Amino acid sequence: ASRKPLVAGNWKLNGSLELLNEMAPELKAVAGEDVDVALFVPALLVASSAQQGVITGIQTVSEYESGAYTGEIQASLAKELGASFALVGHSERRHIFGESNEDVAAKFAMAQQQGLTPVLCVGETEQQREQNETESVISAQIDAVIEKLGVAALSQSVIAYEPVWAIGTGKTASPEQAQQVHQFIRAKIASLDSEIAQRLLILYGGSVNEQNSSDLFAQADIDGGLIGGASLKKDAFISICESAK
Ligand code: G3H
Repeated sequence: ASRKPLVAGNWKLNGSLELLNEMAPELKAVAGEDVDVALFVPALLVASSAQQGVITGIQTVSEYESGAYTGEIQASLAKELGASFALVGHSERRHIFGESNEDVAAKFAMAQQQGLTPVLCVGETEQQREQNETESVISAQIDAVIEKLGVAALSQSVIAYEPVWAIGTGKTASPEQAQQVHQFIRAKIASLDSEIAQRLLILYGGSVNEQNSSDLFAQADIDGGLIGGASLKKDAFISICESAK
């Protein structure tokens, strides 16, 4: 496809300044014409990461612009410190911190308003998959954003499909299972705006490693990955990035 793949590491509440310093030069070296490489570091490492020339993202932002919200992360400040992307609606934010589809849509709006590209994470739990609710769950997660901002907002965004049952479990979706959902997401958006759908990057996340990444990335509607555990291991992450080229 004409879409340039993106491979993004999500360090979650892991990593260190030392690891960043070790990985940054190699990430810049592997990125290029054939693949973009980004790193969602812990918030306190955003400035260092961006200063080292790594395409950097923040893992969450506040839906509030500013004010008396102790401990929250200001999207405008993340942008000022060099972040380009913001994850919104990661399953850990939804399930551990109780973020609703509406909360996620509000964070999406704030990220975009401050010049960050939101990476909207969607995905079903194992139980929802067993009950054949995968498509309806994902639809509702995407519709919350479309209802708030209109489909045009998706033109400046990325979607990451991360089946909850595959995150950190070692149980990855098969390339066919993932492709089926990616195709569903693209078709759903195409029904509203085909040009936006064709340009939209849809990343897969959930137990991606250096063994399974190339088969996943070879699927027609999989435009790269959102990598958790394996993004903390330099050699594994570099070879995942290579496999997207
Ligand atoms: O954002 C990344 C995902 O949650 C995937 O994590 O690669 O450790 O399964 P994982």
